[in-house]
Amino acid sequence: MAGRIREDDVSHIRHSSRIDDVVGDYVQLKNAGGGQKKGLCPFHDEKSPSFHVTPSKGFYHCFGCQSGGDVISFVMKIEHLSFTEAVERLADRMNYQLTYEEGPARTGGSDRKRLLEANRLAALFYQEQLQQPGPAQVGREFLQSRGFDKAAAAKFGVGYAPDEWDALSQHLKGRGFTDAELELAGLTKPGQRGHIDRFRNRLVWPIHEISGDVVGFGARRLSEADTGPKYLNTPETPIYKKSALLYGLEMAKKEIAKKRQVVVVEGYTDVMATHLAGIETAVATCGTAFGDEHIRILRRLLMDDDAFRGEVIFTFDGDEAGQKAALRAFNDDQKFVSQTFVAVEERGLDPCELRIKDGDTAVRDLIARRVPLFEFAIKSKLKLFNLNTAEGRVSALKECAPLINKIRDKALRPEYVRSLAGWIGVDIELVRDAVGRGSRESVGASRSGLEKSSPTYLLEREVLKSILQRSELSQSWPELMAEDFDDEALQSVFAAIAAEPAMLSSIPDLISRCEPEAAALITELTVEPLRTNELTTFFIDSLVARLREVSVTRKISELKSTLQRLDPESPDYGPTFTQLVALEAMRRALHEKGLGEALL
Ligand code: GTP
Ligand code: MN
Repeated sequence: MAGRIREDDVSHIRHSSRIDDVVGDYVQLKNAGGGQKKGLCPFHDEKSPSFHVTPSKGFYHCFGCQSGGDVISFVMKIEHLSFTEAVERLADRMNYQLTYEEGPARTGGSDRKRLLEANRLAALFYQEQLQQPGPAQVGREFLQSRGFDKAAAAKFGVGYAPDEWDALSQHLKGRGFTDAELELAGLTKPGQRGHIDRFRNRLVWPIHEISGDVVGFGARRLSEADTGPKYLNTPETPIYKKSALLYGLEMAKKEIAKKRQVVVVEGYTDVMATHLAGIETAVATCGTAFGDEHIRILRRLLMDDDAFRGEVIFTFDGDEAGQKAALRAFNDDQKFVSQTFVAVEERGLDPCELRIKDGDTAVRDLIARRVPLFEFAIKSKLKLFNLNTAEGRVSALKECAPLINKIRDKALRPEYVRSLAGWIGVDIELVRDAVGRGSRESVGASRSGLEKSSPTYLLEREVLKSILQRSELSQSWPELMAEDFDDEALQSVFAAIAAEPAMLSSIPDLISRCEPEAAALITELTVEPLRTNELTTFFIDSLVARLREVSVTRKISELKSTLQRLDPESPDYGPTFTQLVALEAMRRALHEKGLGEALL
């Protein structure tokens, strides 16, 4: 793995990238007064600009969709990059050489650049070779037989690796690459007499990283005489990590984020066919099973305000593969699974074959006929029973009911109880009993925070706004405690500030330490104007006093109710009473200092 980027470098990139310039590449910004700029938000549809950028503080915030953060999070979000990738992108932009901590000497700066360049040139070389007369003809015929014309091949950069020992190797060495570099890039391998090309007489698909760089290739056998595997891939290299690559992702990422849908198919030709059929959200793994890393990458594209939204649709050629995958799902992290769908072609055709046989519409229909993973899994199991007999139905019920209990999202269970009853052909009550108590438990209500328009919520917000915007004016804010905030989200923001008050002088650094939800809230609170024109020490201290008064009042009523329940003879009664009296006195004192509700 890549070493970590040095903390100093991250900080340098964060502070010296001009956020208005970076954002300006994507959004037309106009001056909005007060040193702010604004434009149409790139993260949601809007007609009037609510997307604000504050260059002096180095961050952005959208009042429409609440997204916000610093220059690094902007690049992450708009280009769908990881933190490291975004920092690398920004460093490239300002020609800054990053240093990496730990890990072997690799992939930082120049090494990585050389390997990417070698792969980029290799892709161009292969593409040119596909146009040559001679053996490349077999490659062109293969493409044609799979329903791809010249334009389709060009769109995906498909190429041909010549039937020679070292054609690519010679080509790249002519451009200044060494044997060691080409081997490290996975393009050649040591042979008996020097290095030889890894891919020979094969059709090659360039595999891109999400950022768009070519990092390796998938290569299909063309000749019967070829004793190698049907598909060959670039081996693991410093830039090619198969567990974290999805073929087609760089092309699909915008649509995936926009449509909140991703279609996972099984091969390179399937990705091509699915895209050409009009479904531009298709990707495939590169010679490996779909795994956790892939999930992580897709989550990033489908994340919205910290919530996972969207559909992940897997196509399987044939029932068997689908069933195996589906039954595994019950044991997986079900956060992802409840939005997972399965599309199976009954005749066992893959999308490429389906497109050749029945055309583009058939591919679109296949995807449209997707079935929720749970439904697919349960129905797969049902197929094992003869539902025409009473015995079959009873056995089916016995086997399938436990599956419903394994669905973590309890809100979904009653729905599946109803469905299962229908699929088997028995009474709902019978299924409900078989599933047991689990499905009847209600979804526990969680404390979600204060009503957003309540005076207390507004007060808590106002206090945080003044601390974030002008903490130097107030001496009294450090007297606050996180528990003084009743709203959960605001409380976590205060806790983050209180944990490291020095961070107030650099909000982007503060933000970078927070969970995404708290980070968005902080930018919002830092940008949102205060409800007063004259921000003075007196004003802030009054707000703080008022907030503490509200909080003390809350504690007082809790104590009073405790006292009511206590037996006056109990040893706790006295101390509790004393505490109550002290809090009452504190409340009066705070009331003198605060300006009461008049403030807001
Ligand atoms: P064609 O049969 O060439 O039309 O393409 P296909 O994509 O339908 O092939 P298949 O369904 O056999 O394989 C689907 C995907 O699995 C391929 O795109 C490869 O990524 C992978 N795969 C298939 N065979 C091999 C193999 O022998 N080795 C490796 N590493 N991967 C393979
Ligand atoms: Mn296939």
